[in-house]
Amino acid sequence: MSRTPSPAAGSVPEPASAPGPGAAPAPEAVAGTGAEALRGRTVVLIGGGSGIGLSVAHRAVAAGARVVLGGRTPERLAAAADRLGPAASWRSVDTTDTASLAAFFAPLERVDHLFTSAASYRVGPMLRLSDEDARSPFDSKFWGQYHAVRHAAPKLAADGSVVLMSGAAGARPPAPAPAYAACNAAIEGLGRGLAVELAPVRVNVVSPGTVDGNLWAGRPAADREAAFAQYRRDALLHRPGTEDEIAHAVVFLFTNGFTTGSTLYPDGGYTLR
Ligand SMILES: NC(=O)c1ccc[n+]([C@@H]2O[C@H](COP(=O)([O-])OP(=O)(O)OC[C@H]3O[C@@H](n4cnc5c(N)ncnc54)[C@H](OP(=O)(O)O)[C@@H]3O)[C@@H](O)[C@H]2O)c1
Repeated sequence: MSRTPSPAAGSVPEPASAPGPGAAPAPEAVAGTGAEALRGRTVVLIGGGSGIGLSVAHRAVAAGARVVLGGRTPERLAAAADRLGPAASWRSVDTTDTASLAAFFAPLERVDHLFTSAASYRVGPMLRLSDEDARSPFDSKFWGQYHAVRHAAPKLAADGSVVLMSGAAGARPPAPAPAYAACNAAIEGLGRGLAVELAPVRVNVVSPGTVDGNLWAGRPAADREAAFAQYRRDALLHRPGTEDEIAHAVVFLFTNGFTTGSTLYPDGGYTLR
């Protein structure tokens, strides 16, 4: 899974102000809540070349932030940055490779907000998955995010935040996939643990339900239709979510200055039934 860190990068300059480790409020930052608090901020979105991460990028840029996109496929990142305009830059990174993460964060002087939707894994019943496949959600989604935060931590602004990506399947598994459910639950625990360690930097977790977006568009049509039909039956709002609805929740967690150690479930009420 590991790849050599790529020097490929977009051309937008990095922020000019130099931070101290974990202690540098952005000079131009507006304190307070609401998306306007992102104006002038640097928002790092690993996995931001598509799906939920790209939707967060659109919202952040609209709110006046500068976004740095990360992912493994330069063409995807370049196309996303083109669509976002001059406030977006990109750099290749593989979150399963710590050397790649070090190279990704090295040129960044300050990180105000970090969201890592990057993950590739296999799910299924314990009795059918190979051990390697069963470990894959932890290898990619859990440890990928852990290491991303670890590399960002010295550069995080004291009034900044981290949002971790979990998934409502951790609270209410829709089908047998115990290692994946455990991984999401572990990420929610990681969020609480990091909130304690990194304070005053805020750390929260978003745990979406099923989303009708890029991830499911890439799966077999029969699987997608079955999952969406089950979600329409099981969620209080009787539909899958949209990527923009999840992005809205992520921006809320970036910008609400009194929320830390929380898990937010934008899931249409799925986990309640
Ligand atoms: N969509 C849903 O229904 C849903 C629901 C609950 C939770 N989630 C969680 O959301 C995350 C996926 O986000 P998404 O739905 O927006 O899907 P997505 O569009 O597939 O986004 C994932 C992004 O991460 C990148 N990526 C994958 N593995 C990577 C790695 N090792 N290093 C760096 N980048 C990597 C991918 O690009 P490259 O392949 O080019 O690297 C892609 O741009 C997963 O953690 C998933 O469990 C999704």
